[in-house]
Amino acid sequence: MIKRIGVLTSGGDAPGMNAAIRAVVKAGMKNNIEVYGVYDGFRGLVEGKIEKLDYHSVNDKINRGGTFLGSARLSEFKDEKVRQVALEQLKKFGIEALVTIGGDGTYMGALRLTEMGINCIGLPATIDNDIASTDFTIGFDTAINTAVDAVDKLRDTSNSHQRCSIVEVMGRYCGDVAIATALATGAEMVVTAETGFDLQKVLDTAKQCCEMNKRHALFIFTEHITDVYELAKKVEAYSGFETRATVLGYIQRGGSASSFDRVMASRMGMRAIELLIEGKSNRVLGFKCNEIIDMDIDKALSMKKVFNKELYDMARILSI
Ligand code: F6P
Repeated sequence: MIKRIGVLTSGGDAPGMNAAIRAVVKAGMKNNIEVYGVYDGFRGLVEGKIEKLDYHSVNDKINRGGTFLGSARLSEFKDEKVRQVALEQLKKFGIEALVTIGGDGTYMGALRLTEMGINCIGLPATIDNDIASTDFTIGFDTAINTAVDAVDKLRDTSNSHQRCSIVEVMGRYCGDVAIATALATGAEMVVTAETGFDLQKVLDTAKQCCEMNKRHALFIFTEHITDVYELAKKVEAYSGFETRATVLGYIQRGGSASSFDRVMASRMGMRAIELLIEGKSNRVLGFKCNEIIDMDIDKALSMKKVFNKELYDMARILSI
């Protein structure tokens, strides 16, 4: 029976990570498993920033944004020598398994550690929702609520000034944040990596909105598509619709997690402990049709995220 585990959060922080850590700690302790917190992700693991957690450590954390364990991106973790140091730290603390909470980079780190003999259970947490093996990642729901709230506010001012608003949201190369935000705010257009970027189409749509004498027009873009500030100038010059650009940025990663994220994160945290007690290894958790599922890390990593065309089509049909 497993006696001592570690828990870490890695990659971009996501609201709900604290709820997941709390569930791991509480469920672990209820099953007589000691839970050690690893601070600052894989970097902290290598540096030995490890400390025993208890009920007090997770008090007043479920409602807090970010991750109280801290997070980091450590590209050097690809290097086996670096991972060997991490392994030694785990041995030093007598940690037999690790619960890793993060995105696909975290999954990869967990897979490599599993190959080196440390059992890892991964929880999907990133605002991007870009993990194929789960319908939703921890943090996505909160992030789209934040984005929708911000876009609603932009609509107020756009409407007052009769302006077109181009809004860039996060998501890395996944359009889920943009599409959900566009659908929920009634945007005139959404452009993501999956939809492709057709400048002329954007210009024509803005012109059409202007000719319809719309009070405002909302164009939602995923990051890494184009420079939205430059695009705003082009749109205004071509369409005659006064245009402003806004990059929502890191605000989308902050804030108290939504109840959906907290509940899903808590379910996943508890399930991670059950899997460890059952002696399962090399697994990641997911949320499918309201069930918490698990599968091999390598299988999850080999899956390709499917573009949610149904939602995109809906956003288009319900646009102008
Ligand atoms: O993965 C979450 C995310 O916020 C992406 O949406 C964004 O592209 C990236 O992280 C930003 O990363 P960093 O915190 O390293 O600047």
